[in-house]
This record gives sequence, structure tokens and C-alpha cells, in this order.
Amino acid sequence: MYRSHHCGQLRTSNINEEVTLSGWVQKSRDKGFVIWIDLRDRYGITQLIFDAERTPEAMVTLAKSLGREFVIQVTGTVIERTSKNPNLETGDIEILVSKLTVLNTAKVPPFTIEDQTDGGEELRMKYRYLDIRRNPVKNNLIFRHKVTQEVRSYLSSQEFIEVETPYLIKSTPEGARDFVVPSRMNEGEFYALPQSPQTFKQLLMVGGMDKYFQIVKCFRDEDLRADRQPEFTQIDCEMAFVDQEDILTIFEGLTRHLIKSIHGKEITSFPRMTYDDALRTYGNDKPDIRFGMKFGELNAVAQHKDFGVFNSAELVVGIAVPGGNSFTRKEIDGIITWLKRPQIDALGMIYSRCNEDGTYKSSVDKFYDQDDLGKWAEVTGAQSGDLVCVLSGPTDKVRTQLSALRMELAERLGLRDPKEFAPLWVTDFPLLEWDEDSKRYHAMHHPFTAPKPDQIKLLDTDPGAVKANAYDLVLNGNEIGGGSIRIHDKATQALMFDHLGFTPEEAKEQFGFLMNAFEYGAPPHGGLAFGLDRLVAILGGQETIRDFIAFPKNNSGRDVMIDAPSAIDETQLNELHLKVDLK
Ligand code: AMO
Repeated sequence: MYRSHHCGQLRTSNINEEVTLSGWVQKSRDKGFVIWIDLRDRYGITQLIFDAERTPEAMVTLAKSLGREFVIQVTGTVIERTSKNPNLETGDIEILVSKLTVLNTAKVPPFTIEDQTDGGEELRMKYRYLDIRRNPVKNNLIFRHKVTQEVRSYLSSQEFIEVETPYLIKSTPEGARDFVVPSRMNEGEFYALPQSPQTFKQLLMVGGMDKYFQIVKCFRDEDLRADRQPEFTQIDCEMAFVDQEDILTIFEGLTRHLIKSIHGKEITSFPRMTYDDALRTYGNDKPDIRFGMKFGELNAVAQHKDFGVFNSAELVVGIAVPGGNSFTRKEIDGIITWLKRPQIDALGMIYSRCNEDGTYKSSVDKFYDQDDLGKWAEVTGAQSGDLVCVLSGPTDKVRTQLSALRMELAERLGLRDPKEFAPLWVTDFPLLEWDEDSKRYHAMHHPFTAPKPDQIKLLDTDPGAVKANAYDLVLNGNEIGGGSIRIHDKATQALMFDHLGFTPEEAKEQFGFLMNAFEYGAPPHGGLAFGLDRLVAILGGQETIRDFIAFPKNNSGRDVMIDAPSAIDETQLNELHLKVDLK
């Protein structure tokens, strides 16, 4: 028996019991006549004591030789501590050790295994198994487990069946590049790893499974960011005989259940907003609605004066920054410099201070009088004490810029409270989006999404205007999930491929299996997928998904611990029929 208890378990009620513990040496304090060792395992820390009076000399010598992260087993008696540690759950007791066994030695770790460590991110990723011993990482993994369990239990209670789908498949387009796997047995042919199990879950609906879910790895070869990994996990779901409303209701239920079971909070408001409104009101399709600063379009009140910059702009739009009149000139200049960085690329910013006495002071007083500025305040909803910030330019660009400014200022003003959860459905996404590079339309969600039935005719005349029954779940300004009602008949699917620029032969070659299936009684169906990594991170009050993944990749898509990707030897290359010039 390695242990009778774990290191977070013992209390004063255990005093005088003989116990056995195993774990890692967190730290030791050697006062000469007495040595204390903090013994750590997954559950906590228990203090061990060896002293010259009560401990045999050989054991004291052994205790003194223990280094950080040695793995040891001790047997001893639980005693009351003379000086208690209220910060530790086991802080009232310690173990007077009678038997000490070294189970394994350890090299000095390359960074301290403490909540606040001295190790940089790359080093911690290289030694991820040591990083996982630290509370922040360990707790994130335990948190992820809890969320995952709640997801499984909720969906199971709603009669969803978890079905596994294959990883070695044919490309399923979700907008990224595929990771491909060469086939040894089929020379010159490749599998693609799934960007999502999209086609399989639709085939499960044709198969009559009705309500499917899967907590599943997906693989996308795309540029990485804090909220993107090349392999990530989806909570993937599909339902048959449903309309959009049924789907939103079920997954609103899941979201409420998670926030309630994890944080004990009831979600009182679960608003919906169309994609067009989200862009108009917040400048992007994943607005953080924990705070205001809604966009006010100012063309009507700011154009046709003598200010040429606004007159020539497609869109003049502003936000009211709460309390922003207290910003100094220097702070405002700082904001303008921030906006001019290449990442945002704004030409500048016009502002108007809303003074406490009801007057206004703007950076363009030469062109606008108090009445004009009063209208700016009215349209943006500014109160006295606020600062109206205004940008102008081409609509899409200026919305993106102002949206970035809104988020930045909210961050600086502490308006993005990680303990508050504000979910939002964004609905009515466009079916198609124009791609400047390839000069053609792409599916905004994926090619299996159904156009709104009354809009199919628009496909020929104004494809960009066609809306889909497609929706995203946004939580605190992050896209947590997305889905749609699907096409379930061959003719519409063929029409869609045609509009996406596939020839009938290409469509048949790539997706013939799905179109064939649609000819055998495909039920109406739809679904969605949540990004589990993102969901867990946001529920955990953070935005970097790496911190919630046991073994993540770095920003170049490398696993620096196992050193992957890596070259493979020539024999393997030959077996796979890959001729690579290794020079
Ligand atoms: P979509 O592509 O919107 O939909 O993906 C669903 C959700 O997965 C998460 N996500 C990611 N998380 C981490 N790293 C990534 N690289 C990454 N890419 C996406 C996001 C996103 O909202 N088959 C459809 C779903 C459907 O229609 O049912 C799909 O995959 O949180």
C-alpha cells in the first residue's frame, strides 16, 4: 500500500492516527535540530516533521538529503502543529515521520513548481509534465474534466447518444487547411484528418440516430492565436426533425446548466441578435455584451459640415466611453497612438468631451458647435462625464477598428469581469461570403448549411444577400459555438456546390457519398458544435485555451516537449511512397 490518505486529507480529527502518504517534496526547511518537509500530491500539501529528539538519526540524515521533487513515501503519526497555517487545509496538523522511503530521486526542476513560477512559457511547455504539477495548470485540467462531465451528463439526460466517428477521413471543408496522412496501402493517396465530423454527423441523422453528440478532436491547419490550436476539441452535436428554435433551446439549456453547475449562477438573460445588428451595434459578430458602449452611427449629424474627413467617409461612427472625460490629453493621445498601430491601422480619432456642466469640448470645435456635439452625445448615448470617440472610413474597416477600440477601452476600464457570464445568440448569418483572393463566394459556415428557404431564389441575383439559418453562440465576446440547419436534399446541395464553384464532377468526387445518402430518406436536420477548449477557458475566467489543454502546441504549431513535427526516416518515407528530396 503506497498510501492510506492523500496529502490534502488529514485534519485535527485524525490526530494520533498512524498514516502513510506518498508524494513529491515541495520544499524542505532544515533548522538543524528539526526538519520540515512539505509533501505534495494532486490533492494538497501535508507537512512532515523530523526532529532530533523523536526521529532516529539515520532518518534525519536521509530527510536532509531529499531534494525538491523527490518522490517519497512516509509513515508516521498525525500530531497537532504548534504553529498552525490557516492558509492550508491541512494546516492544523503535521506528520511525525517514523518511516521514510525514497521512491525516486529527481533532478532539480528547470523552474519552480509554485503557483507563481520563474519559468517562461516555452520552458514550461518543454517540461509540461512538471508544469502540470503546479496548481494553476492542474486546477485547469480538473476544471476541464468537470465541465466535460457536466456536458456529458446534460446531453445524455436529453437523450443524445455519444457516437465516435473516424479520424482518417476525406477532407471536410470548414475553412482551414487539412492535415493529411499518407496511406501506405494505397499508393499516392492520402487521408485527411477531420476539421470537424460534419459529414459523419449528418450521415448519422440519415442513419436515424436522431440526437448525436461527441466530444471529439478536430484538426485544422491554420494560423494560431490565443483561442486557436491546430488540434482542439469540439462538443459536436446534431439533431433530426428540428428547426432552429429547437436547437437554440437545447443548447441554451446546456449553457445555462453549465454556468449553474460550475458557478452556481442563474443566467437571467439570453438575448439573440441578428448578424447584421451585431455588426451595426458592436462592429463584429461576437460582441461582448457585458458592457455598453454601443455604436452610434453619426453620418446624419456629422456630415455636410466643413469637416472633409467625415464628409468623404462611408461611415462615421462613435462610442461613448463611460467616465472617459476624465482621460487626460496624454491618455487620449495614447489611445490615438494605439489606434494607429499597424494591427488596427486607423488614421486617427476625433473625440468630444462631455463636461459635467452639460457643455462639450471636441477636437474639431472649428467645425462643430455645441448643438452638433449634443447630437453626437445623443446618438452614442453619452452622459456628462463621458468621452465620445469617433472613427470614420469604409464601413467594414471602421467597424472593425471601433470594435477593437471598444474592447481595449473596456479592458482598461475593468468592464470585462471574468466572473460575469453574458451569453448571446447571433443569428441569420449570411450564407456566403466574398473572398477577394479567389474572387468567388465561399460558404460562410460550411457548404452543408441551408439557405433560408424563402431566399434560395436570391442565389442567382444577389448571392451575398442570402441569409442562412446559421447561428453562433457568443460568450463574453468569444465565439464559443456555431451551427446551422442543413441542406437535406440532393438538388439543393448540388445547387449550393454549383454556387461555390464546384463542377458537378468535383462535387460528386468529393461529396458524392453525402448526396447519395440524401437520396435514401434524409430527415430534416441541423446542429452545432461548441469549442470545448474555448468554453472551458471562458468559464474558467480566461481566454488562452493553451492553459486548459494538457499538452498544447506553441504558436508555431510545435509540441516542444516531444519535438513534433519531426523528420521521418527514409524507410518510412519509402513505405509511404513519399519521395522527398531531403537535401
Ligand atoms: P465551427 O467551425 O464554427 O463549426 O467550429 C465550432 C467551434 O469550434 C471552436 N473552434 C476552435 N477552437 C480552438 N481552436 C481552433 N482552431 C478552433 N476552430 C474552431 C470555436 C467554434 O465556434 N461543423 C461545424 C459545426 C456545425 O455546423 O455543427 C463547425 O465545426 O469555438
